[in-house]
Amino acid sequence: TPGSEKTPLSLAFDAIRGSLTDAVAVPAGYTAQVLIPWGTPLNSQAPSWSEDLGFTPEIQANSVGMHHDGMHNFALDEKNASRNFLLALNNEYIDQGALWAPQGGATNASDGARPADEVRTEINAHGVTIVEMKKAGNGRWRHMPNSSYNRRYTSATEMELGGPVAGSDYVKTKYSPDGTRTRGTNNNCANGYTPWGTYLTCEENWPGYFIKDAGREMDDNRIGISEGRGRYGWETAAGDASEVDDEFTRFNATPTGNSATDDYRNEPRTFGYIVEIDPYTGARAVKRTALGRFRHEGCWPGKLVEGEPVVFYSGHDSRNEYIYKFVSDAVWDPADANRPGANYDRLAIGAKYMDKGTLYVARFNADGSGEWLPLTPDAQTQDGRTLAQALNLSANDLAGVIINTCDAADLMGATPMDRPEWGAVDPASGDVYMTLTNNSDRTAEDTAATYTNGGSDIDELGVGYGTAPTNAPNPRADNSAGQVIRWREGGDATRFDWEVFVFGAAVNDADNYSGLTELNQFASPDGLHYDDRGDEQGILWIQTDNGYDNVTDYTNDQVLAVVPQNVSQAQGDAAVIGGGDQAQLKRFAVGPNGCEVTGIFFTPDRTAMFINIQHPSNWPSAEDATAETQGTVRPRASTVVIQREDGGEIAV
Ligand code: FEO
Ligand code: CA
Ligand code: CA
Ligand code: CA
Repeated sequence: TPGSEKTPLSLAFDAIRGSLTDAVAVPAGYTAQVLIPWGTPLNSQAPSWSEDLGFTPEIQANSVGMHHDGMHNFALDEKNASRNFLLALNNEYIDQGALWAPQGGATNASDGARPADEVRTEINAHGVTIVEMKKAGNGRWRHMPNSSYNRRYTSATEMELGGPVAGSDYVKTKYSPDGTRTRGTNNNCANGYTPWGTYLTCEENWPGYFIKDAGREMDDNRIGISEGRGRYGWETAAGDASEVDDEFTRFNATPTGNSATDDYRNEPRTFGYIVEIDPYTGARAVKRTALGRFRHEGCWPGKLVEGEPVVFYSGHDSRNEYIYKFVSDAVWDPADANRPGANYDRLAIGAKYMDKGTLYVARFNADGSGEWLPLTPDAQTQDGRTLAQALNLSANDLAGVIINTCDAADLMGATPMDRPEWGAVDPASGDVYMTLTNNSDRTAEDTAATYTNGGSDIDELGVGYGTAPTNAPNPRADNSAGQVIRWREGGDATRFDWEVFVFGAAVNDADNYSGLTELNQFASPDGLHYDDRGDEQGILWIQTDNGYDNVTDYTNDQVLAVVPQNVSQAQGDAAVIGGGDQAQLKRFAVGPNGCEVTGIFFTPDRTAMFINIQHPSNWPSAEDATAETQGTVRPRASTVVIQREDGGEIAV
């Protein structure tokens, strides 16, 4: 209520020390329970996990995928939403050493042809897992084997294309001569969700899975598809005579026929999107191309207002890449809100809000203002041409602009950022937070020869990302600790105000601008989540990914909590928060050795916090590891639920 005094939320736990163990460390009075590690059977068609289990394509297709990352919960009915829900979970990539441990590693992992069934297994370890979760009377959680909701989407599952690119010449292939379908989703890193009850899974480092011949189109060059061997050499496998002959060769975009519908030259153009999944029905997933084509980290809905457009934010996680915003043409109708558990066509609602709208890219000005620059064919580029002219497209070719999203953003003068990762929106204020994880290609000087994004050298298309000099939101050269920025939208769709919220650093770093201490120093912020407390102040949660050379005595990968000051309080001389104030930024959890802590949500009653542990080195069954047994466990990415021993609300 305007004018009323509110008691500020305070964090009611003791910040924990850093640690270097094969366990998840949590504050006193909290427990951490491991759930659904990679390889957990989803139904009776897969055997129970064992250290020596040999995986087949069938076993992996019926088990939890590998390398858990973004995730979200979907209630089956509102009343029991904090006890029973569908978990939608990204399986970003694989650890071949763990997957093929019983046979001593992958076959021909680095050269030569891969065996077909190994590749099929690896394809099935990627994608998305949907699994029903339930809380028992004793407070412990478990997954529901054989739930009819349990299913997998993999890097081979048929998917539809939606939005401007669907049906265009850019995506016609032998598999889909009309350009409306493709197979698989890849490198599903962070995630999003919609008010109409669907899951958004986001294609990040997919270019590494494709190869192409030398000198292909500028869009492929710009985004980084290589001319050598794919990340796991999937394109080298030979299908069985009984299988379609393009099962693996589709990962090689080299033209082999006379036209696009004879081969897979366009296959990489069917990747790089936000993918919408209805977790309740298993309907065919749809790639929403209107939200742009790049290495999408994730996709986060803006504050939802009846009668106003629906907004989504997304970052391109590469060095000196950009932040984007999509604004729907349709305005929000609460009648479209999710009806949990019901079986109806949510993807038709998705088409209404996500297939038609405007994609913008962000320019951050040094004075704290910002502009959203439209990526439409008729937008005026910095040199006065239209985007269509500058990209050599026909005048109304929105699909062409989307295919070349990165080049279009260069031409408009977007600001190159320090690797945008997760976003989070304060449900009360609508303020948007985003992690900028680190950037080894940020230079102190304007090295014009290699500064190609957002700079003056806009005629040089297809040059790929290079180095970029420091700028206002990315002020540290060779930035290895990262920062979190936030912005507030302005009066129309094209203006915003921004500031750096907190800088990562080690205590003794010369550029420890936020005054971090032993109990909250961090680097490489990645995951981000904002508590939903309606109109009340919530907690911002920050997760980290990567070690930090300046801190060697404990693992860097952790979860921190902070109650942000609002933007108006923080302006002026306090544009960054005071990290030395333990009430404001506190370490809540630390992950096991070698891991990245990622994926985060709370049950609606906020008594259970779910996180993911990705690429651990010796976990989850090595809590008692001695020096002799360190590194001997076949590691498994897992979900972890953190709860209070007294069953109360987390952190307050
Ligand atoms: Fe897959 Fe940008 O993290
Ligand atoms: Ca990761
Ligand atoms: Ca990430
Ligand atoms: Ca990361």
